[in-house]
Amino acid sequence: MSPPQRFPIAVTPTPLQPMDRLGRSLGFDEGALWVKRDDLTGLAGGGNKARKLDYLVGDALALGCDTLLTGGAAQSNHVRMTGAAARRAGLSCVAVLGGTRPAVPEGNLLLDELFGVQLEWVGTYDAERLETTMAEVCVRLAGEGRRPYEVPLGGASDVGTLGYVAAAAELVTQVPMGAIVYTATGSGGTQAGLAVGLGHHDRVRGVDVGAIPDVDERIEALVTATASLAGRPFPGGRVQLDRTQVGAGYGAPTPAADEAIRLAAHLEGLVLDPVYTGKALAALIADRRAGRLAPHQPTVFVHTGGLPSVFTSRVARRLATPAPG
Ligand SMILES: Cc1ncc(COP(=O)(O)O)c(C=O)c1O
Repeated sequence: MSPPQRFPIAVTPTPLQPMDRLGRSLGFDEGALWVKRDDLTGLAGGGNKARKLDYLVGDALALGCDTLLTGGAAQSNHVRMTGAAARRAGLSCVAVLGGTRPAVPEGNLLLDELFGVQLEWVGTYDAERLETTMAEVCVRLAGEGRRPYEVPLGGASDVGTLGYVAAAAELVTQVPMGAIVYTATGSGGTQAGLAVGLGHHDRVRGVDVGAIPDVDERIEALVTATASLAGRPFPGGRVQLDRTQVGAGYGAPTPAADEAIRLAAHLEGLVLDPVYTGKALAALIADRRAGRLAPHQPTVFVHTGGLPSVFTSRVARRLATPAPG
């Protein structure tokens, strides 16, 4: 089977920028710490999902579908970007969301509604329940004469994951050989694609944010399917998944992520979010402080986006305090 056509959504290559001020504060050598700005992928506030949507929307169009169907948490970045991508391609979007609609939608949810995403709410967030409901909605839409294309949670299909195989190819032209890459891991597609593209699991440290159970098994399956689809060899080694930053669960704030968010803002002018990127940087910081990353180790933090969720009253209540220093 040949890989699907791309529909051009992500603005690439994204910049790779040094983070020497943050690096110095963590004891890295000059020139060792970098950020891959996948928050600047140019779709509706940016983020990693734009790269997956290049392939997912291309596939949906090739199959003659008229509706993208997906799901996620109420503040899902993935749903927001899928809604925007659908509009760019002239498609409709239906999304199953965990929770109930708040009286005043904020952040990603406000943007979902602005993009005219048809939202279906399922009470509390539970990944399995979302997937079951998406399957039911898919059947219902088909029964209504629509042609839905099911985009799994986080866009984590083999087709979507091709976006991060392409990102890895971009990265190797930008960073020194042997760099270790840190990324937040939700549905696992970003980590799986990077591992296939970079050719070895040891090059990619995924930081689990607790979005779905057993994500390591999903990453294994995605790696196998994506490598086959891309005609690439399977990456060496084993999935590197750091589970220490999840805290009380998906979306639950942690002091370590708060510290990482403040450090990135103060030293680099970068905006991170408490659900994904704050936890991923917290893991990198912990690894450097514990000596698991050497000072000279070239290290890339993939900024996967998440900006709109910062503009919610829940996050504001936590972070809008006078910062130290
Ligand atoms: C900002 C952000 N970072 C990271 C991720 C995780 O990416 P993946 O689902 O490919 O593991 C997501 C997924 O929703 C995200 O929104």
